[in-house]
Formats: sequence, structure tokens, C-alpha cells
Amino acid sequence: DKGEFRHYMLKEIYEQPKVIAACLEGRISEERVLTSCFGADSAFLKDIENIHIVACGTSYHAGMVAKYWIEDLANIPCTVEVASEYRYRKVAVPKNTLFLTLSQSGETADTLAALRMAKELDYLTTLAICNVPSSTLVRESDLTLLTNAGAEIGVASTKAFTTQLTALLITSIAIASEKDALSDDKQVELVQALRSLPAYVDAAIKQDEAIKVVSEQFANKHNALFLGRGPMFPIALEGALKLKEISYIHAEAYPAGELKHGPLALVDEDMPIITMVPHNDMLDKLKSNLQEVAARGGELFVFADRDTDLHNEEGVIFTEVPKVDEILEPIVHTIPLQLLSYHVAVVKGTDVDQPRNLAKSVTVE
Ligand code: M6R
Repeated sequence: DKGEFRHYMLKEIYEQPKVIAACLEGRISEERVLTSCFGADSAFLKDIENIHIVACGTSYHAGMVAKYWIEDLANIPCTVEVASEYRYRKVAVPKNTLFLTLSQSGETADTLAALRMAKELDYLTTLAICNVPSSTLVRESDLTLLTNAGAEIGVASTKAFTTQLTALLITSIAIASEKDALSDDKQVELVQALRSLPAYVDAAIKQDEAIKVVSEQFANKHNALFLGRGPMFPIALEGALKLKEISYIHAEAYPAGELKHGPLALVDEDMPIITMVPHNDMLDKLKSNLQEVAARGGELFVFADRDTDLHNEEGVIFTEVPKVDEILEPIVHTIPLQLLSYHVAVVKGTDVDQPRNLAKSVTVE
């Protein structure tokens, strides 16, 4: 039931504060991540020396964000691969590697095939981060962490993605802590940030009206370029996927530092550039990337917190996002991109919940 909402997608965007809270429930105390959330025997966490993440689509983008967190917090090498590639190649598995799948449905054919292949290889164990408790993926994996997002009806994944990220942050902190890579103080700080996450997401949703206005300037575009740096690069990929999927606007995403290596040639006054600006030591570098774009007449749609000193000006359409702990930025900054693609699709009159040619769960190759 869509209730007061016009589409399931919008309802699911608005549900995010609640389902993220459900994903955190019972998994963190005041001070730490509760490793019991991985099941009775969480001893495997100490043994992990490598991580292979395998998933498709939006779930793959969540995995790409997790790579930044895992290598940063736990100092453990992590690779991320789309399941349709992984399943058809010879994979080298280093000693004590965790095989981690991400899937909303738990029924994606390629992800299941990848898991079945992994079970024949010499992995430490297999862990699934999944939204559907009764799914094949959950049944066939050694360990599971459920995302608790509730049923997701819209084909475009929204709350499934942000709860996957929440579960992945919990997992990254747990591994870092068990590997003694994380001080107690740092863990308290991260867990406190996690506790504020539902409220931050709620604050981001409050920008809905402002984003709706921005979307009207966007709906006549034929192409779009999304830029990000660090863990915001996968968020740029996810923003581009959302826009393609439901508004049928051609969109690409690049790490901002790659501009000069090719995509800058595409930039002219008809090419909108969308950027989620992180508030960290990459801010100045990103600002100079944006200047490169502005100098070529590209129209900039910038999402940033107010302390970044970015604002509306000639050629820059600024939308404020809440200022949050740096670790949470990929999760909170996803919300405006979901809302932007939603409103653009509504303006264009596409079938938001059931885009052409797509199925909610890809159970055949
Ligand atoms: O159920 P899964 O998470 O395994 O699905 C993977 C992809 O098919 C899925 O994320 C797809 O990319 C979404 N439609 C994106 O919005």
C-alpha cells in the first residue's frame, strides 16, 4: 500500500530514517558494534585477512563504498566485483579471505552463481548482507546480516541501498575492532555517528521541495555527468544509475580527478554536472575540478553542506545537504540524488515504479 504517496519509490525514500534505525537495532551498544549480530560464532572476524565483495547493480555500488571503509578502518585489502564477471573467471583467493555478497532480493541469478562458485573455492567463510530473510542467498550463505529494510516494491533501489551501507559500516567497524585496528575512542565516535544517522537522513529528506524545484531545470536534459571523489565516487555512480533507470536520461559518473583524462571533452552548456561535495581534505581539489567544468560553460548542480562555502551563483545551482560526520556522508548524500531522479522522472511522466525493460529482481542471466 502506497498510503499518502504517489509512488512506492517516494514512500520508500521517506521510510529510510525508520528502516535505517531498524537496521541498527540490536547491532550497536552505546560504545561499540555488537559482534553477536553475525551469529553465535563471530570468531571469524579476527581471522579475516582479505575481503572479496561480489554483487550487481545498486548493491555493487554499496560494495564499492564499503571498500573505502574497510581499507580505511580495518587496513584489510578489499576487492569489489560485479557478480556476472566474477562467476566466469578464474579467481585467485588469498589465505583467509571473506566472501561477502550484497543483495536486496537474495535471488539475483549472477550473485547466487557467484556464491555457489565461491563455495567451491578456499574462502574463510561466506557472508550475505541481504534484505530478504527467506531468500536463496541467505539459505546458502554460511553467515547473514539482514538489512531489515522491509519489502521494497519500486524497481529503483532506494532504502535497500542505504540500509546495505548501514550494515556495511557496522561490518567494517566490527572487523576493524576485532583486528585491533580501531581504538576504543574511535569506535565510540563511529557508533555515536551511526546513532545520529536516522536523524540526518530525515534532515536530508526535508530538502524534498527544494530538490523538486531543481528537478524542473533538469528534466529537459538529454545527458548528465555525475562527479565524486573517494567514497562519493560510488555515490555518483549510484546517482547516475538512478537517473538512467527511471528518467531515461543518459548519465555517466566519473571520479572527479578523471575529468581531464577524457570526459571534460563532453562538457559544454548542454551538459549538466551533478556533484555531491564531501566535506573533507578533498574539498579544495573538488572545487578546482568544478572550476574546470564552469570554465567550459557546463551547468553545475552542487549538493553540499553550508560550511563548504559553495552557494548559488551564475552557472551553479546549489542545494544544501545536512552537515554530518564524514563517515556518514555517502549514506546521507545519497538521499538528494534519489529525490532528484524521482522528481525528474515525475516531470517526464515515466513509469517510476516499473521502468521499461527492467524487473525488480533479475533471476535469469
Ligand atoms: O536484489 P539485488 O540487490 O541483488 O539486485 C541487484 C540489482 O539488480 C539491483 O540493485 C538493480 O540495479 C536496481 N534496480 C537498481 O535500482
